Amino acid sequence: ISRFPLIPVRGVPLMCSIANNWDSVWSFCPDPADLLIATYPKAGTTWTQEIVDLLLHNGDAEACKRAPTPVRSPFLEIFSPPPIPSGLDYLKNMDPPRIIKTHLPFQLVPTGFWENKCKVIYVSRNAKDNLVSYFHFDCMNMTQPEPGPWEGYISKFMHGELSWGSWYDHVKGYWAEREKRNILYLFYEDMKENPRREVERIMRYLDLSVSDEVISRIVELTSFKNMKENPMTNYSCVPPPVFDQSISPFMRKGEVGDWRNHFTPEQSKMFDEDYEKQMKGVNIPFRDLI
Ligand code: A3P
Repeated sequence: ISRFPLIPVRGVPLMCSIANNWDSVWSFCPDPADLLIATYPKAGTTWTQEIVDLLLHNGDAEACKRAPTPVRSPFLEIFSPPPIPSGLDYLKNMDPPRIIKTHLPFQLVPTGFWENKCKVIYVSRNAKDNLVSYFHFDCMNMTQPEPGPWEGYISKFMHGELSWGSWYDHVKGYWAEREKRNILYLFYEDMKENPRREVERIMRYLDLSVSDEVISRIVELTSFKNMKENPMTNYSCVPPPVFDQSISPFMRKGEVGDWRNHFTPEQSKMFDEDYEKQMKGVNIPFRDLI
């Protein structure tokens, strides 16, 4: 295991494992019944995957455990070093409907998802908390480039130099297409504020109908505390050379506003000024940024 360099694909820096396999990713064709969960890394992907999986299994956690993958859904990105099979290999061996996760920005999502009118859930998180979470993740994920010092990391985030590219382009790309493509656009902060409301929102989007009791169970099973203890969701199944959870656990804090413990007032001001410019003319209702 080594910290791989990033390679640009159509101008977006991607981990070399995916960039070097770009043709097979780009030509991937989903089934119309497949569901895509798309996020910028650290926006709440795992949480949403877990909710969706439980909804599809009517809240039956045991049934979810029988999934053919060590974690809840395969990676559309080919992140895994051998001998772990790539996400694409997993997908070939699974029957639809499959929950597929990706961190690809909108323009790099294989066109088959749109041609087949697949359902797509996009999860976003306020930029500062997303950045903080990504920083800790890059410290413990030995396949990502070294994060370097915090101050420089903020700059890399602002300039779109981290793996999967610019957060700004990412959230704006899906936002602009959400109506045309029937994308369910969620916010981490909404999920924290009222998880039940958001679970019900996802249920309706998926045309599912589960009882109030099952919804309550899903909310409970997907609490931060429970997901931190659950080996299916805390990534303890990923072998230690990839994730060093002694540096930072995958289920780290799970809070809104942790950025206040990281940004100095000067860094926050500089970030806000740049944010205004990069988000000019786009009104995505992010919260808890100031
Ligand atoms: P923190 O690093 O701020 O704790 P992803 O799954 O996209 O990689 O996102 C990981 C982030 O979501 C981490 O944020 C993690 O703790 C948080 N998270 C995961 N499950 C959660 C849950 N059930 N409730 C709240 N936050 C959760």
